[in-house]
Amino acid sequence: MAHTQTIEPVRLTDQQLVRYDMDFIDDELFASITGCIDAQLGPEFSFVDVGGGIGGFTDRLLAAYPGARGVVLDNAPALLDKNERSDRKTLVLAGAEELDRIFGAERFDIVFLNYALHHFVLPSYGATRRLQRSVLSASRGLLTERGAVSLCENMANGRYLPNLPGRLVFGMTSLRALAPLVRRLGANTAGTGVCFNARSTWYADLADAGFAVDHYSERSWSGQLSTLKRTLLTIDRWTGAHVWATPLSTARSRGGTSDGRTISTSRADRP
Ligand SMILES: C[S@@+](CC[C@H](N)C(=O)[O-])C[C@H]1O[C@@H](n2cnc3c(N)ncnc32)[C@H](O)[C@@H]1O
Repeated sequence: MAHTQTIEPVRLTDQQLVRYDMDFIDDELFASITGCIDAQLGPEFSFVDVGGGIGGFTDRLLAAYPGARGVVLDNAPALLDKNERSDRKTLVLAGAEELDRIFGAERFDIVFLNYALHHFVLPSYGATRRLQRSVLSASRGLLTERGAVSLCENMANGRYLPNLPGRLVFGMTSLRALAPLVRRLGANTAGTGVCFNARSTWYADLADAGFAVDHYSERSWSGQLSTLKRTLLTIDRWTGAHVWATPLSTARSRGGTSDGRTISTSRADRP
């Protein structure tokens, strides 16, 4: 008998969600995203904003592109309810882990993952990393032939091992017993877990999911982590960034490389 495995992620608490009642995409990241849209898609496109929260990014995109339509998908009803309504916007209450089965045959030109992937957390680190990779794979399956995945993340690049800072942060934030201390140190996700990765790790995950990175740009503002925290977490660089990636088949037909890493070295140099 076939079994369907149900993945139940660790959810943010109501108290933690209050901190996400805001838009994380600033003007710099928005400009990077629209630059990629203009170069690859033009004014008419469809998209799904996975972990789109209160929908501010989607609203801004719909206002900038009157020919666009989009879906905001989030697993937090409290955030989804705050969305402004529009006939070009659909709200879907669901988890990212269900991405491969909720849309049926519907396809999108862009799957956005704006500061969302690091919140897709399961009880163990290994399972969490597998979930992040499976969401990227499912995103690829949702794309039209001209489609792309667009992700914004805090890149946590290690001084000694590329992904060690993210691994340490996951260990500290996912342990319930440490929650009061970790919360006092400033982590909103204390007791729930959060999983940041190095830029090279996201590139490898994207390659595994069948993507080539087309564009990479960093924010000029890179956060408020103190020198002590950077040292303890072995951080070399911690910076917000935007990555635009296209499925390898599209990348090849547009003259890209076949190694799944980069199709434009001038715009997306290797990590
Ligand atoms: C840091 S906020 C980013 C919100 C928005 N994308 C932005 O950039 O402003 C993370 C969002 O991911 C959502 N989220 C967390 N886990 C999720 C999951 N498993 N499935 C769908 N959404 C999730 C949260 O509810 C929240 O809206």
